[in-house]
Amino acid sequence: MAGLVALLVVAILVLILLGSRRISKDYDIQVASVPIPTDAVSIERGRHYVETVGLCSECHGEGLGGDILSEDSVFGTLASPNLTSGASGIGDALSDEDLVRAIRHGVGRDGEALVIMPSEYFNKISDADLGAIVAYIRNLPPVDNQVPKTSLGPLGRVIALLDSSILPASKFDHTAPRPPDPTPGVTVEYGEYLATICSVCHGDNLSGGSVPGEQDAPVARNLTPEGVLVSWEESDFINTMRTGKTPGGGQLDGEFMPWEHFARMTDDELKALWMYLKTLPPSDSGE
Ligand code: HEC
Ligand code: HEC
Repeated sequence: MAGLVALLVVAILVLILLGSRRISKDYDIQVASVPIPTDAVSIERGRHYVETVGLCSECHGEGLGGDILSEDSVFGTLASPNLTSGASGIGDALSDEDLVRAIRHGVGRDGEALVIMPSEYFNKISDADLGAIVAYIRNLPPVDNQVPKTSLGPLGRVIALLDSSILPASKFDHTAPRPPDPTPGVTVEYGEYLATICSVCHGDNLSGGSVPGEQDAPVARNLTPEGVLVSWEESDFINTMRTGKTPGGGQLDGEFMPWEHFARMTDDELKALWMYLKTLPPSDSGE
């Protein structure tokens, strides 16, 4: 019996050790330079992206002043840094290159993968939008807010070994050639570009999925023309995204379906999204 317990302890220690090695793996990323604009229109575009499609403020707080996402001695601490130049903010310490590396590649200044920041999706952000986001971060009003550092505990380390979604940088090819920037407009192509973020919860084919890290969340439904949306009109979709109220009289839970952020999308963005959703091949839920 004592031998078995000892064996189990050793096995757990090995898993924690392997998880820790995965976390401290060094990513040597060649960061392509992205033009950073300085004009007011681009800064405003960056703000719009951060608050709506990017969902950055969902994790980093309004004004990107940082937030504690979860604190647990066994799993670990998940906290998004204060990106402003206020007291305890890291805004002044981050170069433009650091920002591009973090957002596009999910890799921090120390070369390690950033925990849970969904960069496998942000990797698809166009040069124009990424430049605008960096420009906006550079011009953030300072917020004085101290947040703890993200650090995974023993359980978080074991999970990091078994589930790559905790370290998004480990999930995609950082050297893949980039497609040309999409042209904003009410087109299927632009809708597809905007829908990248929907895949985080609704799955890669948008046929339904689960909200990462949230066991109590309702299912993120099938958005292909096989699911509930098949009977919707464009106006039903826009109204649902703006109010969280579905045509069937339901109310979407904003804690899990971030409609309050999507509500701030422009009419053209929502129309493009709808146009794209209509072109999806009908798929059974979760396929
Ligand atoms: C799901 C939550 C989540 C979302 C969404 C998110 N972040 Fe983060 N972000 C984090 C966490 C957590 C960290 C700290 C990770 C760590 O230290 O390992 C972080 C770190 C960062 C860093 C710091 C990098 C460094 O070198 O220290 C930057 C910059 C950043 N995020 C920008 C953004 C931007 C811009 C967006 C939107 C396009 C965004 N984040 C969306 C959770 C998130
Ligand atoms: C962070 C996770 C998450 C993201 C990102 C997300 N959704 Fe959702 N979505 C959900 C969840 C969860 C539900 C179910 C909510 C409920 O039933 O209260 C949902 C429900 C919906 C519904 C209602 C379907 C129905 O059953 O009536 C629509 C429409 C929808 N999402 C569209 C989108 C679109 C479009 C995007 C991208 C712009 C998106 N969602 C991004 C989690 C998400």
